[in-house]
Amino acid sequence: MTDKKERIAIYPGSFDPLTNGHVDIIERGLKIFDKVIVAILFNPSKKALFSVEERLAMIKESFATHKNQENIIVESFDGLLVDYAKIKDAVAIIRGMRAISDFESEFQMALMNRKLSRDVQTIFLMTGLRWIFISSSIIKEVARFGGDISGMAPNPIKCKMKEKFPLLK
Ligand code: COA
Repeated sequence: MTDKKERIAIYPGSFDPLTNGHVDIIERGLKIFDKVIVAILFNPSKKALFSVEERLAMIKESFATHKNQENIIVESFDGLLVDYAKIKDAVAIIRGMRAISDFESEFQMALMNRKLSRDVQTIFLMTGLRWIFISSSIIKEVARFGGDISGMAPNPIKCKMKEKFPLLK
């Protein structure tokens, strides 16, 4: 009898911070793959609010009581996404697509990753309608000025945001 190989996907991003839109993509990814690795990777064009260690802890806490918790792995990696995918034996990279405006950069990234490695496929999942308007930046902006971000990010994220933004209730 042969053991069926686990199908692992990587969901990479900055996650600064994780939002409910990301959670939606992770949960839907788990309907297709056995395991989803939520991987905090470095985007050189972004200046982060939370350190990688903070983001790791916040994301882990957000899934600590999730029903699929054992299939959600949270890690960070400093290097090329395709190299990380190889190390992890991942068959796919998951990316969420919110609107046409995401398409150009996502297309470029997917093609570059394909040029670098043919061993991993990029899969796009449409972001749920409820989360189309959300991004990490917009949540940070609202929180900075004390706006309510309930329902846009998991509770552990909201708690950590309060430490950075005293105006947030
Ligand atoms: N719901 C809500 N928001 C979403 C979302 C969803 N489903 N999907 C994406 N977003 C938002 C994110 O919150 C983020 O918002 P922000 O710009 O305000 O921070 C934005 O869309 C896109 O961010 P993210 O998905 O995190 O991608 P990124 O551009 O920050 O990360 C990396 C890109 C890290 C994956 C990429 O730079 C990478 O692979 N780096 C490693 C080095 C490498 O291999 N480079 C070559 C790649 S071609």
